[in-house]
Amino acid sequence: MTDNVRAAVDIVPFSETHVSTFTAWFNALPNNHVWTEDFVRSRTVDDPTYDPRLMLAATRDGAPVGFVLGNLANETGWIRAFIVHPNLRKQGIGSELFEAVEDAFRDRGVKDINVGWAIPRYFLPGIDVTYTSAIVFLDRHGYETDRSARVNMEVALAGRSFDTAESESRLADLGVIIRRGNVRDLDQITELCEANDSAMWALETGMALECDPAPIFIAIKEGRVCAFAAHSVCGPVHFGPMLTNTELRGMGIGSVLLKRCLQDWQRVGMTTCDISWAGPISFYARTVGATMGRAFWAFHKSLDRDNA
Ligand SMILES: CC(C)(COP(=O)(O)OP(=O)(O)OC[C@H]1O[C@@H](n2cnc3c(N)ncnc32)[C@H](O)[C@@H]1OP(=O)(O)O)[C@@H](O)C(=O)NCCC(=O)NCCS
Repeated sequence: MTDNVRAAVDIVPFSETHVSTFTAWFNALPNNHVWTEDFVRSRTVDDPTYDPRLMLAATRDGAPVGFVLGNLANETGWIRAFIVHPNLRKQGIGSELFEAVEDAFRDRGVKDINVGWAIPRYFLPGIDVTYTSAIVFLDRHGYETDRSARVNMEVALAGRSFDTAESESRLADLGVIIRRGNVRDLDQITELCEANDSAMWALETGMALECDPAPIFIAIKEGRVCAFAAHSVCGPVHFGPMLTNTELRGMGIGSVLLKRCLQDWQRVGMTTCDISWAGPISFYARTVGATMGRAFWAFHKSLDRDNA
């Protein structure tokens, strides 16, 4: 662990007054310019698991100098983001923040901490593997990674056609209707997620359905929702999650739903997007020409072992 002379900072709860500063610093990290203050609120003060002892700011003379955003969910500790003012790094501020949040986790009986992403809402799927300072910092503080990469894919949107008319009429002949989802679809979409063991996707699609118009498209067969694709819930111009019921895969439903999402972004002038934590890499490459993008590692620390 770093043996810095401790920086003179106060540790206070992360609050609304910190949202704009955090957003500006976080967006200044490489490849990370898309976050809006509303998205930051949804992952901090408006997060359903927000706990003022786990989401912290370090301040000096009242001004923020660093942040660590922890939360507790599924009896596990999560740190979804941490950052120190670019001119004040290597002064022990990051270490003070981690000490404070780890103490708060211990007080709550937490035995495991995951870093880089979080349930129920994350910024990124892990720590960007190009963020050297963060990775070295975590290593020095006893966090481990199995180095399994979680990868975003990138899709160019400008000047391209993602027309689905022909495919949709072919699907209609097979009894599959494609349309935008709305809040009345919540129960069926949730059931579909749960039938596929994905509580996380149920939360994310639920967030999409809170918006009007909802950034989610669905396929309906025999009156039941059998597939969905959502956007703008994992991040501002991030695609996902998506799911097609196993027995209906290979019919072209997923590719239509994906393209309908990309059309939404084209209409508001977006020129590129990220597919968040991409699962079926070859599906995305084949259907919309997606290419491999940012890679992330998740980190973990056992506080039990820490105490041994
Ligand atoms: C990671 C970070 C929060 C550490 O904050 P900090 O206040 O500098 O942390 P401390 O002073 O307590 O500890 C410094 C330690 O971090 C690591 N570190 C910091 N900057 C580093 C760099 N440029 N290269 C390598 N290691 C670095 C080292 O382990 C260093 O200890 P050392 O000087 O003894 O080698 C800070 O570097 C930062 O804000 N980085 C960008 C944010 C980021 O990538 N966050 C992850 C995305 S959520």
